[in-house]
Amino acid sequence: MPRKILVTSALPYANGAIHLGHLVEYIQTDIWVRFQKMSGQECWYVCADDTHGTPIMLRAEKEGISPEQLIARVHGEHSRDFAGFLIGFDNYYTTHSPETRHFANDIFGKLKAAGLIEVRSIEQYYDPQKAMFLPDRFIKGECPKCHAKDQYGDNCEACGAAYAPTELIEPYSAVSGAKPELRHSDHYFFKLSDPRCESFLRRYTASGVLQPEAANKMQEWLGEVGENKLSDWDISRDAPYFGFEIPDAPGKYFYVWLDAPIGYMGAFKNLCDQKGLDFDEFFSRDSSTELYHFIGKDILYFHALFWPAELEHAGYRTPSKIFAHGFLTVDGAKMSKSRGTFITAESYLAGGLNPEWLRYYFAAKLSSTMEDIDLNFDDFVARVNADLVGKYVNIASRAAGFIEKRFAGKLAAADADLPALQAIHQAAPRIAELYEHREFSKAIREIMALTDGANQYVDSVKPWELAKQDGKDEALHAACSNALNLFRLLTVLLKPVLPGLAAQVETFMNLPPLTWSDSMSCLDQGHTINSYRHLLTRVDPKQIDALIAANKTSLAPTENKTMTTSANIQTAKAIPATDATLCSIDDFMKVDLRIARIANAEHVEGADKLVRLTLDIGEEKPRNVFAGIKSAYDPNQLIGRLTVMVSNLAPRKMKFGLSEGMVLAASDSSGNNPGIYILSPDSGAQPGMRVK
Ligand code: 2FM
Ligand code: ZN
Repeated sequence: MPRKILVTSALPYANGAIHLGHLVEYIQTDIWVRFQKMSGQECWYVCADDTHGTPIMLRAEKEGISPEQLIARVHGEHSRDFAGFLIGFDNYYTTHSPETRHFANDIFGKLKAAGLIEVRSIEQYYDPQKAMFLPDRFIKGECPKCHAKDQYGDNCEACGAAYAPTELIEPYSAVSGAKPELRHSDHYFFKLSDPRCESFLRRYTASGVLQPEAANKMQEWLGEVGENKLSDWDISRDAPYFGFEIPDAPGKYFYVWLDAPIGYMGAFKNLCDQKGLDFDEFFSRDSSTELYHFIGKDILYFHALFWPAELEHAGYRTPSKIFAHGFLTVDGAKMSKSRGTFITAESYLAGGLNPEWLRYYFAAKLSSTMEDIDLNFDDFVARVNADLVGKYVNIASRAAGFIEKRFAGKLAAADADLPALQAIHQAAPRIAELYEHREFSKAIREIMALTDGANQYVDSVKPWELAKQDGKDEALHAACSNALNLFRLLTVLLKPVLPGLAAQVETFMNLPPLTWSDSMSCLDQGHTINSYRHLLTRVDPKQIDALIAANKTSLAPTENKTMTTSANIQTAKAIPATDATLCSIDDFMKVDLRIARIANAEHVEGADKLVRLTLDIGEEKPRNVFAGIKSAYDPNQLIGRLTVMVSNLAPRKMKFGLSEGMVLAASDSSGNNPGIYILSPDSGAQPGMRVK
């Protein structure tokens, strides 16, 4: 009997583009699901846009459209990107759906009936101008610890301190700029601290549903018995809010994180209605089906604590396993918009890069652990070109032409005793285990070793030489038929990772869709193949350069202005800079100068000349820059002031850490004046504005 499996990936927010960081998870999940389907299991893969919450409401308002219009547009963009990367959802839905509303109300009602919902008055910042309560991320102010300005309400990006928004000095609303007021409001809480929840979670998180490192983390969060470390969870937000209004609670809405995982149920229910599946068979408490959530390690808390506790106490089944993965770094560093490594799925596809290159590369890096994975572009080019083009596709391209031209496309019987063939038959069950346990990098290593074996066979029989010799037709026919049988078997093993390529192979080799059990058989004598067409091109490193350039966005606040100005420049006729001391306007425009707010400045221990500056240029994370200005400035005087920095200078590794840019300062080269004078913009300039 096939297993019945329901699989989900985390729901992306409906206000941002899919990027390569997201794709690690969708590709990981998709490979696993395709493996299950190929192995004959009944496996359903659902996902949806996560559509609710304040950021989506405000984003729509800023764009002058309704939230419904925004989420409909983004749903189209996300669906396009996922299809482009061959993510084979059985249903890609939305949390803003009648099904999700139904289950949110149902679960809330059951938790309430179980005595696990409580209403409490809380004090929260309120924006009097915008007439709304402010989420922590929409309150800014001075950090109570390091006094960096313009820090978020929950933690400081300059010093890393975590605090309550009420601790911020001179708080202001990031929505309107108004001074927020503390106001009382009734909120609904899920009583996670109830002994029933705590004892369930202790059992559940230790029952093998989590990876060992995740289970340890949960142990830390749960603390020792009697420590009562779990806090109740605030699950309501006040109007105005884009979400589901709580039944019998006018003006109160479910917090987005309450209905997001319920969106998994909503998406599946919608699929059940389309396909005539039995929803209860998958979600009833006594279900014998399997439920797996693939997530990033940053959202473990929600999936390993809140979500199972809700399901358990609302009378539903709980997840069979939760699979968390690590983050993606690009060339060893966090993805960065200014460095062009915050790469969107759309730009990758628009740049003509093959999605299966990335699927293969991620597969070659992924394991079952929560370790981060790095996309190193040199390695990416080398691996794809060497493994996929140089080794795998090469087998078919060296054999197919002879079969087509010399043997009317008909194969001879495969040599069942061929060691390279036997090696694949023997390895297939082991590789299946590796896929099952999400050890994709190990699976790829094994498959590539088998590919090497296949190539060694082709090298040893040299079809291109046999083809030139008289009386060697039979040997040529056998050699090429064996090679194509090897190629077909390797295609079976790679199909979960490379479904598009496998489909091309199925067409060229005239095969029904390959399943895992095909890894144990060979083609019949006389099987006829179709014409071979080139299957895969090599990555050209220039494509990577272009991709990075395309993603090097000018920073958000001045984006439009920059575009207008450069358009103007292009229409004026440029006189070429012939004098070597002159730089062309194009040269100058390469230097990305930005207004920076010095969020923090401090002495660097052991450095005579350097001050460590923390610079805010409107990016998600502030920059760390070492400036040789110690002789002229007391770091304390610098904190809070504006200056100008070169934001696209290649980062430099220094003895004291990474320097991610340079601030501009004037000095007298004649030596008469030893001072150093950092630049300041006129008042009104804002962090992130471009200087040119
Ligand atoms: O972190 C995020 O991007 C969330 N939108 C994930 C939600 S996953 C699930 F719970 F819905
Ligand atoms: Zn701070």
